[in-house]
Amino acid sequence: MKHTIACGDTLELIKQIEPASIDLLVTSPPYWAKRVYNGDGEIGSEETPEAYVSRLADFFDELRPYLKPTANVFINVGDTYFGSGAGAWSKYLDNDGNVTQAQKDRKEKYFTTKPLQPKIKQNGKLYQNKQLLLIPSRFAIEMQERGWLLRDDIIWQKPNRIPASVTDRLNNTYEHVFHFVLNKKYFFDLDAIKVLGANGRMKNPGDVWAINTQPLTGNHTATFPEQLVEQIVLCGSPKDGIVFDPFLGTGTTWIVSDRLGRNCIGFEINQEFFDFAQSRFKESRVSE
Ligand SMILES: C[S@@+](CC[C@H](N)C(=O)[O-])C[C@H]1O[C@@H](n2cnc3c(N)ncnc32)[C@H](O)[C@@H]1O
Repeated sequence: MKHTIACGDTLELIKQIEPASIDLLVTSPPYWAKRVYNGDGEIGSEETPEAYVSRLADFFDELRPYLKPTANVFINVGDTYFGSGAGAWSKYLDNDGNVTQAQKDRKEKYFTTKPLQPKIKQNGKLYQNKQLLLIPSRFAIEMQERGWLLRDDIIWQKPNRIPASVTDRLNNTYEHVFHFVLNKKYFFDLDAIKVLGANGRMKNPGDVWAINTQPLTGNHTATFPEQLVEQIVLCGSPKDGIVFDPFLGTGTTWIVSDRLGRNCIGFEINQEFFDFAQSRFKESRVSE
């Protein structure tokens, strides 16, 4: 297998890749206002959910020339509530919205060095505390408006989701994985993921996938379960094809692609995650 794995900003690194060469893009971008991976200005740190959706769609538009006309794109995007983490603002921010000195002094690494959500004034409409923002749907619609063809809205249901402490709504136990294509004719190997039906015949697996989350050690907690990526790689790319993850994180897409006989292109901007992905990949080969 020929893998191209590099540490840096995907929008720079992609320029080394041959146009129209990628069979499958599968990824999970940073979600809006959920985590701090790399600091100011990173994707996910936008002032509003709308700005996030627009920037994320810009990001995928820039990658589009590198996809084959028959390519598949699977993007897992998470949602959040307006005002989520609002209780932490006083700890993180002073009245002018600047990070407090006390918070800077904590020198914590990921996730806690700034408030999870920017301070946005409530407007009684979309912007009101407790509002589910429907970010995945907004993103999918934005992509459609830019010409991407949406083929599936896969529900990744998480049977092992930890119980929530909330008492005035239901525990959220799923995420969306959108399947986009560029053209009406595209590669798709349904047989590769068919499941056994009650009548003993193989059938379409449907668009609700019950897959447990897979915790890893280390600082990166937003990892893809290998089984989720496996399903996508199997139906979305030919053997020996090229699979691309523009937000490689801990390297799940790389490991799965290698195991399934696909070449992988993977870019990750955070050096620590990149190093972790390297060691995880080496281990995966030893344990085969
Ligand atoms: C949700 S995580 C991906 C997790 C991955 N699916 C896994 O299984 O580990 C998003 C990753 O994108 C990285 N990232 C954010 N902006 C980036 C950029 N412009 N170029 C490359 N990587 C980026 C972050 O550092 C983070 O590791």
